[in-house]
Amino acid sequence: MDGATDSVLILKLWLFLVLTIAILGNSKLDHAKVNQHAGRKLAEIPGFISIDCGSTEDSIENGITYVSDKEFIDTGITESTVSGYSGQLLKTLRSFPQGKRNCYTLRPDQAKNNPYLIRARFLYGNYDGKNQYPTFDLHLGVNKWITVKTDLPLTRGIIHVPTTDFIDVCLVNIGHGVPFISALDLRRLENSIYRTESGEALASIRRYDVGGSGPMMRYPEDVYDRFWWHFSSKDWIQIATNESTYTQSSDNAYKIPDVVLMTAAKTRNASIPLSYSPADETREQCSNSKCSVYFHFSEIEKLEPGQKREFTINLNGETNLTESVKLDYLNPQTIARTSLPVRGMGLNFSINAAEGTQFPPILNAFETFALIEQPNQPTAADDVEAIMEIKKLYRMTRNWQGDPCAPSEYSWDGLNCSNDNPPRIISLNLSSSNLTGEISASFSSLQAMQSLDLSYNDLTGPLPELLAQLQNLSTLDLRGNNLTGIVPDALLEKSRVGKLMLRLDENPDLCPPASCKRRKKKDSVIPIVASSIATVLVLLLIFSALAIYRRKRQGGMVAKSNIKMKSRQYSYSEVVSITNDFKTIIGGGGFGNVYLGTLEEDTKVAVKFLCPSSNQGYKEFQAEAQLLTIVHHQNLVSLVGYCDEGGNKALIYEYMANGNLLQHLSGTNANILSWNERLHIAVDAAHGLEYLHNGCKPSIIHRDLKPSNILLTDHMQAKIADFGLSRAFSTDSDSHVSTRPAGTIGYLDPRSHATGNADKKSDVYSFGIILFVLISGRPAIIRGSMEDTHILDWVITMIERGDIQNIVDPRLEGEFNTNSAWKAAEIAMSCTLPTAIQRPDMSQVLIELKECLDLVMAHGRSQRFNTEGRTLGLSLEEIPVDLESDIAALAR
Ligand SMILES: *[C@@H]1O[C@H](CO)[C@@H](O)[C@H](O)[C@H]1NC(C)=O
Ligand SMILES: *[C@@H]1O[C@H](CO)[C@@H](O)[C@H](O)[C@H]1NC(C)=O
Ligand SMILES: *[C@@H]1O[C@H](CO)[C@@H](O)[C@H](O)[C@H]1NC(C)=O
Ligand SMILES: *[C@@H]1O[C@H](CO)[C@@H](O)[C@H](O)[C@H]1NC(C)=O
Ligand SMILES: *[C@@H]1O[C@H](CO)[C@@H](O)[C@H](O)[C@H]1NC(C)=O
Ligand SMILES: *[C@@H]1O[C@H](CO)[C@@H](O)[C@H](O)[C@H]1NC(C)=O
Ligand SMILES: *[C@@H]1O[C@H](CO)[C@@H](O)[C@H](O)[C@H]1NC(C)=O
Ligand SMILES: *[C@@H]1O[C@H](CO)[C@@H](O)[C@H](O)[C@H]1NC(C)=O
Ligand SMILES: *[C@@H]1O[C@H](CO)[C@@H](O)[C@H](O)[C@H]1NC(C)=O
Repeated sequence: MDGATDSVLILKLWLFLVLTIAILGNSKLDHAKVNQHAGRKLAEIPGFISIDCGSTEDSIENGITYVSDKEFIDTGITESTVSGYSGQLLKTLRSFPQGKRNCYTLRPDQAKNNPYLIRARFLYGNYDGKNQYPTFDLHLGVNKWITVKTDLPLTRGIIHVPTTDFIDVCLVNIGHGVPFISALDLRRLENSIYRTESGEALASIRRYDVGGSGPMMRYPEDVYDRFWWHFSSKDWIQIATNESTYTQSSDNAYKIPDVVLMTAAKTRNASIPLSYSPADETREQCSNSKCSVYFHFSEIEKLEPGQKREFTINLNGETNLTESVKLDYLNPQTIARTSLPVRGMGLNFSINAAEGTQFPPILNAFETFALIEQPNQPTAADDVEAIMEIKKLYRMTRNWQGDPCAPSEYSWDGLNCSNDNPPRIISLNLSSSNLTGEISASFSSLQAMQSLDLSYNDLTGPLPELLAQLQNLSTLDLRGNNLTGIVPDALLEKSRVGKLMLRLDENPDLCPPASCKRRKKKDSVIPIVASSIATVLVLLLIFSALAIYRRKRQGGMVAKSNIKMKSRQYSYSEVVSITNDFKTIIGGGGFGNVYLGTLEEDTKVAVKFLCPSSNQGYKEFQAEAQLLTIVHHQNLVSLVGYCDEGGNKALIYEYMANGNLLQHLSGTNANILSWNERLHIAVDAAHGLEYLHNGCKPSIIHRDLKPSNILLTDHMQAKIADFGLSRAFSTDSDSHVSTRPAGTIGYLDPRSHATGNADKKSDVYSFGIILFVLISGRPAIIRGSMEDTHILDWVITMIERGDIQNIVDPRLEGEFNTNSAWKAAEIAMSCTLPTAIQRPDMSQVLIELKECLDLVMAHGRSQRFNTEGRTLGLSLEEIPVDLESDIAALAR
């Protein structure tokens, strides 16, 4: 209780001092104002930032211009104190009724790795009329500095070496009233002074000019604008000199002002030490941490020539006998005792004359500091820069104050960070945040990002390709915006291989739909003939095979096929209604998105759009449309129709409910394909490919066979898709055929890769690789820590060892027929032989695979697989078609 009353007494004394200074400050202010009015512009002081919080205009204190705080913070409310006992500077303040943490961001020229004195001042002054002062925390960057709790004017300073290019001073609401601040100073210090060993900050406890008198000393006497209070003790004798000390001396690295050093205190004689033990308040501040003391000495008494004052310093009762301090006349000397562990009573010291010397000890000035640990690391600088850019661009107003990630209890709303040191931003959710404008490239600078949700905003413009460079991005949600342009291939590819969950629905103008819409306006004069056209088309689909069949039997082929083409065509508006305004993206290809559509009677379709800006895609569109309208087989994905309105192209395929084979084989898929399912898929695919090779004249070479091009129906029937790269070849002499290399690494025949020639046997090779992938469940390129291995190299080593158990997908847990596995591996092996002539034709492969399937069916091992659901397809479909004449007909 005694301590409490003591501290109140001390505070009252301080208040008295502050009042005196305030009055002095005021008179100086008026003086400065006069000067300003007289047209003398006050120069900005280098290394100083001086802020008058809550004020709208500049004010001047001690010749320092204090500017309004509005450039340094975008939250809080400006207020004025009620009580009139403060100077101009402390009259206004800024309070923070909203948000847990509000921060001033100070950006001096060279913040990083340079020491700064940061000083905050507070005067409650009953500004809110509640007569109840708040208690709140003050943070320096990501670490706590002090708790503020007083209705008296309070000044707190700290010396800190920032690790960032800026300095945040944050007021944190801890649930005991609204935080506020009256003034904020930043002073750049010399690089070499006040250094701590482990990067702790130094919170000022006391800074005393011993032996002085008058008001507090600061700028311009002190170039760093330190506040020097006067101090004396009853047993101390005050002394002073009229001679300037050698303040320019290199010994005065701390730039202690002359006036401070020109006064001092000593004791009566050499046997009496100069002792200091702090007031209660100081004990409180120092007792929980380490402290540092800086003693500043200068001999100001002229002693006999050749004689020197010599003394030792005793800290907290520990005498240091090893070293004594000797002073030279008028030469400043600073003795620092740093990182002193302090327990219980706080820091005290005594200065004793060295043994055998006659002069009493002397002290000119001293400073005490509490060491403030900096346990939290700020967020990685690149992430901070990017998120600041985002904050600025979209004018984010939430609690986006101070460091994004640290301390974790005050991290920004809508983002999550990693626990790394430094922390990284790993997810950002700005869903429904009224964001406008384009998607900033800064999002792609958040390199550690895993999830980005910008859904339901008003974002416009293109989708930046740079986002695909975020290697860990697994969720990208952009639904419900107004994006335009093309979806970058790189993103679609990531989405397709299952690395990225990409949500793009409800972006009406995102390409391809955008282009269609624009052109629709032009084409809107064309009347839509029948609303039931879709129904007609479904019927057409059912009878399409029949149509081909009939056409081949009848004459007048040209006219008929033209009619057929026309009737399979959909208008853009039909496509919009089929896809429910492009609501659901189910995939993407090299040239556009694939949307889910529904025809009447709930027949699902997949609508593939072609982006007009992609010329290559345009060619592929035509090739695919032409081929698919003619080619029909139960194991080839069939074309329901297409849209070709203005420059807008869309292909409407039958919907394959079970996605593609790649998805089923991926490590993340929980439903593991059984061995029998795999064999059925292999037979289906072989069937489809065999038809392309031998059922069509001339043959169709697929050129890009891979698991993602093998689609599965709801009954797990496999069909080959993506004829975009296919060409109908007349002969090998047709030179244009071999000009464009195509295919996918891993599945591409090395032979055709080298020459650019693709033929049936290159498809056979790709098929062989698919077989190995099916058997082993491994990708075509097996990623290793050191290097990547092609599946063929891996499999050959295994086969040489006779090790079929280790080839077959371990996820099957041995649930497979060994004989059929060996046979399947042999077939795959023959398909991938280096010389084309050694490889079998697809008809041979099909026969062998069927035998392989018979092996397991005879064994009766097939459980999960439901054969009843499999459609056998119209036998009509397998009638060979004459593509040359059909394409010729289409061309007319
Ligand atoms: C300082 O100068 C004043 C007047 O110039 C003089 O009265 C005083 O004695 C001097 N003090 C010392 C310590 O020399
Ligand atoms: C020092 O001063 C103290 C108190 O005034 C006195 O008792 C003591 O004798 C003095 N010592 C010397 C060596 O003068
Ligand atoms: C000074 O500190 C030491 C160690 O904490 C303590 O034992 C001693 O009593 C203190 N002296 C005074 C005068 O407070
Ligand atoms: C005593 O002096 C030595 C030599 O300067 C120094 O290393 C040591 O830290 C000092 N001890 C204390 C307690 O100040
Ligand atoms: C952050 O993590 C929490 C807990 O896992 C989760 O509830 C929240 O949705 C995440 N926020 C973002 C922006 O991802
Ligand atoms: C983002 O936040 C919204 C609601 O605020 C929530 O519905 C959505 O799931 C979040 N997104 C992610 C990726 O967590
Ligand atoms: C977005 O704007 C609407 C209307 O101006 C407003 O009601 C809503 O609170 C805003 N939402 C956010 C997250 O700022
Ligand atoms: C991506 O995630 C991996 C695994 O968690 C991690 O090692 C890597 O550092 C992350 N990449 C980035 C750029 O953060
Ligand atoms: C999308 O942008 C277009 C053109 O800028 C505008 O006319 C349309 O109203 C926007 N749509 C929405 C849903 O904001």
